[in-house]
Amino acid sequence: MLARSSLRVRATLTGGFHRHLRATAKPAADDIQLLQKLLDAAKEREAAAKAAPSVSGGDGDPSKKFQIQGFNAISQVGLDRFPGEQFLLTGSAGQVPDGVANEPHAVVLRSHKLQPDEVGSSVRAIARCGAGTNNIPIEEMTARGIPVFNTPGANANSVKELVLCGLLLASRGIIEGISHTKEKIVGDLGKDHKAIAARIEKDKKHFAGGELAGRTLAIAGLGHIGSMVAESALALGMNVVGYDPKISVDAAWRLPSAVQKAASLGDAFAQADYVSVNMPYIKGVTHHAINAEVLGRMKHTTHILNFSRAEIVDGASLKRLYDAGHQGKYICDFADEFMQEHPKFVCIPHLGASTAEAEDNCAYMAADQIIKFLELGQVVNSVNFPTAVLDRQAGDHTRLVIINNNVPGVLGQITTMLGDMGVNIAQQLNTSRDAIAYNVIDMDSFPQGEAADKLQLKLAELDAVISTRLIYTGSASEGPASFYTKGGH
Ligand SMILES: NC(=O)c1ccc[n+]([C@@H]2O[C@H](COP(=O)([O-])OP(=O)(O)OC[C@H]3O[C@@H](n4cnc5c(N)ncnc54)[C@H](O)[C@@H]3O)[C@@H](O)[C@H]2O)c1
Repeated sequence: MLARSSLRVRATLTGGFHRHLRATAKPAADDIQLLQKLLDAAKEREAAAKAAPSVSGGDGDPSKKFQIQGFNAISQVGLDRFPGEQFLLTGSAGQVPDGVANEPHAVVLRSHKLQPDEVGSSVRAIARCGAGTNNIPIEEMTARGIPVFNTPGANANSVKELVLCGLLLASRGIIEGISHTKEKIVGDLGKDHKAIAARIEKDKKHFAGGELAGRTLAIAGLGHIGSMVAESALALGMNVVGYDPKISVDAAWRLPSAVQKAASLGDAFAQADYVSVNMPYIKGVTHHAINAEVLGRMKHTTHILNFSRAEIVDGASLKRLYDAGHQGKYICDFADEFMQEHPKFVCIPHLGASTAEAEDNCAYMAADQIIKFLELGQVVNSVNFPTAVLDRQAGDHTRLVIINNNVPGVLGQITTMLGDMGVNIAQQLNTSRDAIAYNVIDMDSFPQGEAADKLQLKLAELDAVISTRLIYTGSASEGPASFYTKGGH
């Protein structure tokens, strides 16, 4: 299949999404109310998407713009990144104007479980606003030569702030004191304010805590979130030890120098008054990484904060420890089968990244990555493609992007073929990741129309080539960006 589009676009949008959660004495009634609110919010978003103008700004022929198809309500901050002159937003983000073919070049989504048949042959890239990508059929997309992007670190500040809240919930009797006041004191004394005030003063001794300053926080996983937690904990006057066997160079640069290195996870736990778990959950690798042996090295009073994933901590072993008299608390952003009913368990309903700012940051980052991929062939933060950034040289060139199966000899075949066609290569980048090879080639010539088709069809004769794309720049930027996909996906 052969398709074309040019490099000018524009944008439309949908409203934001807000969650309202509140404590209640009548859980069933409020659950229904909450569900009703969520349903109303979903209906509002659907109506907003339907009512969205087909083109919401920016001049130019909509049929010559990159189409970005949204699933879910994508933050307005992200949608606004797409310049209206070059991008047309569709799906949940706007409508395809009458007379324009519905051919999305990229998909942007949040939690929508993307089915392979929702990804048409025109789609060149998929971006998930968030870190996890298990709602996207990655293997199938890789086989089709479609990069899938995520937004690592975009929600780190939101999670960090809730970790700080977790530290305070663990260090003071805040939750116990609030429950006691509400259920016991007010429950017993009704509206007698004087009696309530007196009883509060009398009972507060049961909920005393300790300061964080001077205590030791161990951080397991020093990536985006862990390094931010380290910085804030140091600012609170805590000592920080860190454990990260896989720390990246970038993460190491971000880390405050005052963080002490622990030799092992057990070593980190042994030194800690508080532990913050900020490593990823990887099946078979970090599953129950915090097991009976590691837990057994904790002091009798150490508190654990887990804002990563429940399965990293062996809940059954932790319960045994608490049942045997351990004094710590377990503050967790997820449910835990074994700890759920335990009085030492503080279960937060996965609120780590539930802020408007996190959604905005994720959408902003996803949009930027898609724009750079479509306009420059740049690949950054892909979960299935190699990182590929080739800076432009001065002057005008046509950028040829070729995605092929990573097998021997293909690069030589491509350059020979281009040479035979009289194409001079100004610069090129060839890189690979697992089964995928990715080439960015800047050509001195400007094949357009039939010449562009001929070039791409010729390249498609190579068995290993999955797709090709032409991107025009400089004085040639009026030309089309065409692409060829084999197999009619
Ligand atoms: N609660 C939430 O809503 C929420 C939101 C975002 C992320 N998260 C969780 O937080 C985790 C961390 O997020 P991030 O953005 O900091 O990720 P990140 O990839 O930037 O950092 C993870 C760090 O963990 C390290 N690591 C890997 N294996 C380890 C091991 N065995 N022991 C110790 N460290 C190890 C990595 O080297 C990396 O530095 C995510 O994997 C996710 O599970 C939760």
